[in-house]
Amino acid sequence: MTKEEADRLVASVRHWHHTFDIVPGVRTPGSYDPAILWDRIKGVCDWRGARVLDIGPADGAVSMWAAKSGAEVTALDFRPKTATGFAAMEKITGLTFDFHVGNILDPPNLGTFDAVFFLGVLYHLPDPLRGLWACRRYCKTGARLFVESWFSDTTPGDEPLMKYIRHGATADWTNFWAPNRCALLAMMSDVAFDVVRHDAWGSRIFVEAIAVEDAERGRRMSVAYAQNIAGR
Ligand SMILES: C[S@@+](CC[C@H](N)C(=O)[O-])C[C@H]1O[C@@H](n2cnc3c(N)ncnc32)[C@H](O)[C@@H]1O
Repeated sequence: MTKEEADRLVASVRHWHHTFDIVPGVRTPGSYDPAILWDRIKGVCDWRGARVLDIGPADGAVSMWAAKSGAEVTALDFRPKTATGFAAMEKITGLTFDFHVGNILDPPNLGTFDAVFFLGVLYHLPDPLRGLWACRRYCKTGARLFVESWFSDTTPGDEPLMKYIRHGATADWTNFWAPNRCALLAMMSDVAFDVVRHDAWGSRIFVEAIAVEDAERGRRMSVAYAQNIAGR
């Protein structure tokens, strides 16, 4: 594809969330540069051949960087790829992604992965714990989960608290919950991840965690979400 064709394809997308170079010289006109996320993820392992699940990829900048690093990327979003820039990114790069339309709160069977990206999605969920538990079930034991979220540290400390965002409280009606740091780390631990790293900037937090086998923690979630009532 020529640069002119690629530019035309970029211009045909109604709304870009991400601003990034799809190929050198072809930049998308979004309002948010997700390089801040990939910079925190890219160096943790050799991505060649890794099975990666990107939940809520939007325009797919992070999916693309992982694929360009050699990962086999599956994407799951409740919006089709033509509703975002994802389909255009796919065409311009020529990369192939296993894209599924689905809701993380009713997770389709996609198998298990070496790494799961859960970036900018948690606070959009009415049930964030359920979303994290779905992430755990997509992870092989020892897999990495990367979470990035809006968070509220107006109550810092060791009390796990979440602020409920009532309808109309922010311009974005898709926001539901802002956990504090302690609550996010506690929820991730309770769905059987060991947190290995976290850092925050402004109202955003980033966490890396490893999926662990823990029958007690797993059973608590299975019972809570009625996947195995008989085992109670
Ligand atoms: C704020 S964007 C984050 C995009 C990208 N991951 C990033 O961090 O830049 C949230 C994305 O999650 C998707 N999403 C929100 N709720 C979802 C759900 N319940 N199941 C699947 N995808 C969801 C949206 O369609 C959107 O693509």
